[in-house]
Amino acid sequence: MTWLITGGAGYIGAHVARAMAGAGESVVALDDLSAAVPERLPPGVPLVVGSTLDGALLERVFKEYGVTGVVHLAARKQVAESVAEPIRYYRENVGGLATLLDAVAGAGIRRLLFSSSAAVYGNPDVDLITEETLCAPVNPYGETKLAGEWLVRAAGRAHGISTVCLRYFNVAGAAAPELADTGVFNIVPMVFDRLTRDEAPRIFGADYPTPDGTCVRDYIHVADLAEAHLAAARRLAEGDLSGDLTLNIGRGAGVSVRELITVVGEVTGDRREPVVEGRRPGDAPRAVASAERAAEQLGWRASRGVREMVESAWRGWQLHHDR
Ligand SMILES: NC(=O)c1ccc[n+]([C@@H]2O[C@H](COP(=O)([O-])OP(=O)(O)OC[C@H]3O[C@@H](n4cnc5c(N)ncnc54)[C@H](O)[C@@H]3O)[C@@H](O)[C@H]2O)c1
Repeated sequence: MTWLITGGAGYIGAHVARAMAGAGESVVALDDLSAAVPERLPPGVPLVVGSTLDGALLERVFKEYGVTGVVHLAARKQVAESVAEPIRYYRENVGGLATLLDAVAGAGIRRLLFSSSAAVYGNPDVDLITEETLCAPVNPYGETKLAGEWLVRAAGRAHGISTVCLRYFNVAGAAAPELADTGVFNIVPMVFDRLTRDEAPRIFGADYPTPDGTCVRDYIHVADLAEAHLAAARRLAEGDLSGDLTLNIGRGAGVSVRELITVVGEVTGDRREPVVEGRRPGDAPRAVASAERAAEQLGWRASRGVREMVESAWRGWQLHHDR
């Protein structure tokens, strides 16, 4: 098989490209470079510069490289931006996916993996979120991921495409420093950013109904996430998957914001006391995956812990900030 990885020069996409190419899969990346670091791509993985909104380009790429499967990660991913610019988010995340699926169906490609998010669930009041938990996203970003899943499944049924939707929980870490996330949108880089500015980390709300009063999340190492993509791609390639699969990708373990900041303090050596501020609207007290279905369906489980995530992210942060 030859896999096209959209968003392949992004943070997660480059990890997926590296894991798949490293395991001997034939891979080509497509990225419009709007949020990319192209140097992240491993040698031997060609990069086509272009958008998932360009159907003619997709057709050409499918033909030129003999693409037989697609791993679709390209998307806008900032929650606050999605609230300010919902039309752009629907156009690029859902519209881009519709254009891609049109080209996939037209080219007779029969395997597609879609990058979804725990944001599809919104704020469910459950101990462990299973794939059966009601989806009720609370922002346009999460809505575009849920609408994307619906579109993927419907197009899969109509055109005989086997599909896998992976709902990632909180992604962190880096498989190598140069692959690290350069954005400051997730908690780990946000805490590094505060410390680098000589400021105390912030905790938004310490009065939640959780053991230490701060929000609890399920953090997953991006290298584990990349291995889940490889396992899913292989499951698709085996051809025994008729229809669709939807899987949570997390560790199934909750870590509180305060616990995470303590680990950051241990790793960086900067143990200053965090400041507690008011709750942010829309934050759920707890969002932890049940990781059982992914284990059953893919034979995959995360193996890396929070300390490894923070250590590897810190090495990446230092590399980018030295530059
Ligand atoms: N990072 C997380 O914590 C997280 C959590 C859940 C889901 N996701 C999803 O994972 C995917 C990858 O996220 P990431 O963290 O690597 O983000 P990222 O911004 O680093 O990567 C996205 C890549 O896609 C490219 N891109 C964006 N729109 C494009 C388009 N229309 N055509 C071609 N390329 C385009 C960007 O240039 C970028 O390189 C996204 O779909 C995101 O919604 C991420």
